[in-house]
Amino acid sequence: MPSRRTFLKIAASSVGLPIMYNSMHGQISGLRYRAAAKNMIYGAATSSSRLRTDTAYRTTIIQECGIITPEYEMKWDRMRPTATTYNFTDADYIVNFARQHGILVHGHTLCWHRALPSWFDTTVNRSNAEQFLRNHIQTVVSRYRGQIYSWDVVNEAIEPRDATPYHLRNSRWYQYLGENYIDIAFRAAAAADPSALLVYNEYDVEFDDNIRRDAILNLLRRLKARRVPIHALGIQGHMRAADRAKLNAHAHLFRQFLNDVAALGLQIIITEFDCDDRSLPASIQQRDAGVAQMYGDYCAVVMNNPAVVGFITWGITDKYTELNSSAPRADREPQRPLPLDATMQRKSAWYALEWWFMNTFARPQRTTAVTNTLPEHMLISELECAPNPAIQQARISFHLNQPRYLHIYIVDVQGRIVARLAHEELFSQGLHRRVWDIDPLSCSQGLYYCCISSSGNTVSIPIVVVR
Ligand code: XIL
Repeated sequence: MPSRRTFLKIAASSVGLPIMYNSMHGQISGLRYRAAAKNMIYGAATSSSRLRTDTAYRTTIIQECGIITPEYEMKWDRMRPTATTYNFTDADYIVNFARQHGILVHGHTLCWHRALPSWFDTTVNRSNAEQFLRNHIQTVVSRYRGQIYSWDVVNEAIEPRDATPYHLRNSRWYQYLGENYIDIAFRAAAAADPSALLVYNEYDVEFDDNIRRDAILNLLRRLKARRVPIHALGIQGHMRAADRAKLNAHAHLFRQFLNDVAALGLQIIITEFDCDDRSLPASIQQRDAGVAQMYGDYCAVVMNNPAVVGFITWGITDKYTELNSSAPRADREPQRPLPLDATMQRKSAWYALEWWFMNTFARPQRTTAVTNTLPEHMLISELECAPNPAIQQARISFHLNQPRYLHIYIVDVQGRIVARLAHEELFSQGLHRRVWDIDPLSCSQGLYYCCISSSGNTVSIPIVVVR
C-alpha cells in the first residue's frame, strides 16, 4: 500500500506530470493542478455509485480532484449493517479508485450524532459506548491505514442551543461519555493510523455567532492542552447565496477566527463547500453569477490565511448536488451550487476557484501532518508553528524527549539566518514554546524555516510570513 507520504508526492508531482497530457488533451487545467501548484489541495465529495455508473462524471473527478470525500460510504449507517458486522464494499471502492488515480482521500466521518444505524439506540448505552466507539475507529482506520490523507474524526460536536457546559452538543456520544468521547475518538484514530491528518469538522463559523465560534475555539484549546492528537479544523462552508452580504459584513470575525485556529498550530481545510441558490432568480445567468460571487467572497477570506491548505466542495457537479433534496427551490428549478453544471461544464464558480488558486501564495510544502513522525533518533517531536501575521509573530512549539543544548534559528529560502531564538541553550525535557518576533524591515513576505539543531541533528518547519 502506498503511504500517505507517497500520496503527497503524487499530489505534488502531478503539478508537473500531466504537461504531456496538456498538449494532447488539455487536461492540466483541472483545479487539482491549480491547487497543487500552491501546495494546496482541491477536491470534492463523491459517491461510489456515481463513480461506478457515470463515465463522464468519473473522468471529471479524475481531472479535477486531488482529494475526494465519500459523501455517504464511511458513515456509520452505511458501514455498520449490524452491531457486530462491517460492510466495507463501497468505501473500499472509493479508496481503490483514489489510489489508482493518485487522488487523496478525506475520510468522513468516524464520530457524528447523525447517520447512526437503526440498531444504535437499542444497543449502545452508557456502559458499552466507549467500547463501540473504540472498536469502530480501530477497525475502520486500521483497514485504510496509510491510504487516508485526512480523517474527519469528530463531526459537529458543538451546539450552544443544547445548553450544556462548554456548549457541547447533547448527542448520544456526549450523553454516554461526556466530552471525553472526543479525546477517545482522536486518540483511537491516531493509534490506528499515525500518519493520517486528524480533523475536527464544524459548520457555521462565518457569521455573527460568537458564542459558537468561541465554543469551537475553546474546545480546540482544551484538546491541545490535553495533548489530544488533532491536526486540523475542517470548516464545512455550506453557504447560501442569500447570506453574501452577511458573510462580507462579518468577514473580520471569520478572519480572526481563522487566525485564532492557526495560532493553535492547526491546519484548516474547507471541507464541504457549496452555495444554496434558493434566494436567486430562476435565470441561470444571474444564479451562476450570484453563486460565483459567494465562492469569490468566501475565498477572499480563507485563501488569504496560510493555515488554509485545502478546499473541498460538497460535490463537483450540479447533477448530483444534495441540495435538490435537502433544500429544493420553490420554482422546482434544479439548484446550481457547485463548480460544474449538470453536463460537467465549468461555471463562473469554477473560475472563481481557479482565480484564487492561481493568485494565492504558495503554502509551505507539507509532507507530514505534524512532525511527530520524524525518525526515532530525533530528539524533537511535535514541532509546530503557529504564524500569526496580524501581530507579526510566529509561535513555535516543540517537545524535547531528553534535556539538550539547542540552537533555534530562522532561515530564509536561501538558508540565510534571519533570526536566532536560542543559542546553545539548555532545554529541559518536555514541551517548549518560543516566539519569533518577525522584523518587518528585514523579513519580507514569503517562506522561512524555523530550524532546531542539537549536536548535528536539525529539524525544521516552514513558516509563511504574510504582510
Ligand atoms: C449529507 C449528505 O450530503 C446528504 O445526502 C445526506 O442525506 C445527509 O448528509 N454535514 C456533513 C455531511 O458533515 O455529512 C452532510 O452530508 C451534510 C452536512
